[in-house]
Amino acid sequence: MSKSRIGILTGGGDCPGLNALIRAVTKSAIHLYGMEVVGFLDGFEGLVDDRTMPLTYDSVSNIIAMGGTILGTSSKGNLFQVPAAGSHRVRTGRNRAPDALRTFRKHRLDGLLCVGGDGTLTIAHTLHRRGIPIIGIPKTIDNDVPHTDRSFGFDTAGAVAAEAVDRLHTTAASHHRVMILEVMGRHAGWIALHAGLAGGGDIILIPEIPFSLKEVCEVVTRRSRRGRRFSLIIVAEGAYPKGGSPVMHARRLGGIGPLLVQQLEEKLGLESRATVLGHLQRGGTPTPFDRVLATQFGHAAVMLAAKGRYGRMVRLKDGAISAIGLAQVAGRPRAVPLNSPLIAAARAVGTSLGE
Ligand code: F6P
Repeated sequence: MSKSRIGILTGGGDCPGLNALIRAVTKSAIHLYGMEVVGFLDGFEGLVDDRTMPLTYDSVSNIIAMGGTILGTSSKGNLFQVPAAGSHRVRTGRNRAPDALRTFRKHRLDGLLCVGGDGTLTIAHTLHRRGIPIIGIPKTIDNDVPHTDRSFGFDTAGAVAAEAVDRLHTTAASHHRVMILEVMGRHAGWIALHAGLAGGGDIILIPEIPFSLKEVCEVVTRRSRRGRRFSLIIVAEGAYPKGGSPVMHARRLGGIGPLLVQQLEEKLGLESRATVLGHLQRGGTPTPFDRVLATQFGHAAVMLAAKGRYGRMVRLKDGAISAIGLAQVAGRPRAVPLNSPLIAAARAVGTSLGE
């Protein structure tokens, strides 16, 4: 009997823990089931263009602590949709699903593991319905994949952002400045909330709670009156003022931090500075938590594949690894719920959410 064969690809923005995941998938597939593993390069691009690398025990050795993804990734849009005219994401002008199916069959694969955030997993669901048996694995620093309490990558990004808050704290205090840290978080404020709580931020602004500039100014002023001559503001890139919209720069999300500096200096006359943390949150060594979670996800995905239980995403729910239908995941990102204990804890310690 021929060996079972599975493929794996990493799609969307990279994040710490992807290599730990690739290693876990490859090693458990070989070790537990004697499977062969094929890696597709650069996300769905490698699948439609048939660009692969074999994954063996040797090729995944020594990568557990390495940032990025040895398979490469791509976040240039959906290759399985004909893009709207005028879209800057136009790549081919035709739906590449037949190419994906052809490559999948050519490699005689039993299934495909797609590692990604909400975009990749939504595409994965479409391909699953077009006939490729898929298992989804959630990764994103934003932590906004629905139906999982954690995506790997988030713990590392949160730790990098928290360290940035600590570093800004000391210089803010020395110079008596308002220091603003802009962190990633397109639709969800998980990173801002975690880093802000961990670093004792004075104000945390997240996309889920449109803020009032007046309130932000009042919090800073109240602190000054109490002799606190500096303030720390942590803002998610997707946060926006009540009645306004997220700030874009050159067609990309970002810039709310520098904009707030300008507005606070104008309104309060206090010296302010912004730091945009950007891709520092996505690069580098994953934390032990992310390595362990990625390893557990990889193992769980291989077990599902071995049992032929496709069309699901592995997840962490209430402290245990389980799986949920891809159909339930595709679509909306997971926002921070307004009744989140994190929000309650922030309010309890006197941190303003700018409401
Ligand atoms: O979705 C993850 C993420 O890191 C977002 O927080 C951020 O807005 C986006 O990716 C940045 O993407 P890119 O690297 O393509 O600019």
